[in-house]
Amino acid sequence: MVKEKKKKYSEAFGAYSKYVMPTYLPEVMLVKGCGVYVWDSEGKRYLDFGAGIGVCNLGHCHPSVTEAISEQAGRLVHVSNLYMNEKQSILAKKLVEKGFEDGMVFFCNSGAEANEGAIKLARKYGSAKGKFKIITMEDSFHGRTLATLSATGRSKYRDGFAPDMPGFVSVPFNNFEAAANACDKETCAIMLEPVQGEGGIIEAGSDYLLKIRKFCDEKGILLIFDEVQCGVGRTGAFYAFQQYGVQPDVISLAKALGNGFPIGAFMAKRQFATVLKAGSHASTFGGTPLACAAAIAAIDVFEKENVLENCREQSEYLFAKLRKIPSKNIVEIRGRGLMLGIVLNANVASAKTECMKKGLLVLSAGENVIRLLPPLTVSKNDIDAAVSIIENVLNP
Ligand SMILES: Cc1ncc(COP(=O)(O)O)c(C=O)c1O
Repeated sequence: MVKEKKKKYSEAFGAYSKYVMPTYLPEVMLVKGCGVYVWDSEGKRYLDFGAGIGVCNLGHCHPSVTEAISEQAGRLVHVSNLYMNEKQSILAKKLVEKGFEDGMVFFCNSGAEANEGAIKLARKYGSAKGKFKIITMEDSFHGRTLATLSATGRSKYRDGFAPDMPGFVSVPFNNFEAAANACDKETCAIMLEPVQGEGGIIEAGSDYLLKIRKFCDEKGILLIFDEVQCGVGRTGAFYAFQQYGVQPDVISLAKALGNGFPIGAFMAKRQFATVLKAGSHASTFGGTPLACAAAIAAIDVFEKENVLENCREQSEYLFAKLRKIPSKNIVEIRGRGLMLGIVLNANVASAKTECMKKGLLVLSAGENVIRLLPPLTVSKNDIDAAVSIIENVLNP
């Protein structure tokens, strides 16, 4: 049996390198997950402090989500959006009631798609007045489709895919004057992540967001928040904007929405949402009963298991523990909720690999930041174990 298992995985390794496009360079094959743990093909267990890049916010294979997926898979997996589906209505209502007042939702399948939709909505809104430009931020990340790449503020992702889609104007993040000065009569929106993820765990300043909000109101342009990574509880509030008391006009979500089941969404305030008319945007798979059932179950777990409270409590604990690590290799610990960056004075690649060897999965962000996005259900014991590995790696 054990022999057969080994053979199965060795074939999978061979097939991976032969048949899967080499856009990632994974070192291990993960075969099982439960809560904060995942296991590789050799049976080695890892603490997953990346949570599938901020996806499994309730941990791997949360039983309530698994049950909802199984139940729905036996009832109705897919219907076209030419017909209503009950699960979509329930999920849309829940998302609005979580705090996006007077909102309407469009469902899709990923973060890039959610942002594409948000960009299209902003252009449609601006089109009557010839406005199409969107002000975006340096170090931002919005996805890998051509429009979201053009909106992304890191040129390395765009290498080889020229020309960029026109209409995006990149300015330094957290610099209100730069954004205001970049705005002209063709500008229809400002788009930003309240906490930049891929760019290095960089928080927007409260004052900055308040000023941006006021400016958008004065100019009649839309404020779009990309909460694909920082939303769905990651910062300790269901929506990151709730931490700032600044409501965007449009928001994009994905990643943790289905706790691993692919689903994305963009929401807009009713007055803006209704610029999209029948036929002006569509998605074959967006918001299937199966995807929505997973997301509904995930959102319900937030309430039943006090997930946000745990996130805030463990965040404090994790920040405090990391700040006590005596290491000359650490420049700064930053972030919000359970979205943390350990800024190093060196490239992050080897620290990441060393953590993995010692049984801890972490992510990188930018060139020199260890990014931690543990499940929001993480315990103090998990944190103790993770921090001890990080300490070992940074102080060999
Ligand atoms: C802030 C942000 N927006 C958009 C995306 C793209 O999401 P997806 O990979 O689901 O297309 C990501 C992915 O990392 C992200 O972090």
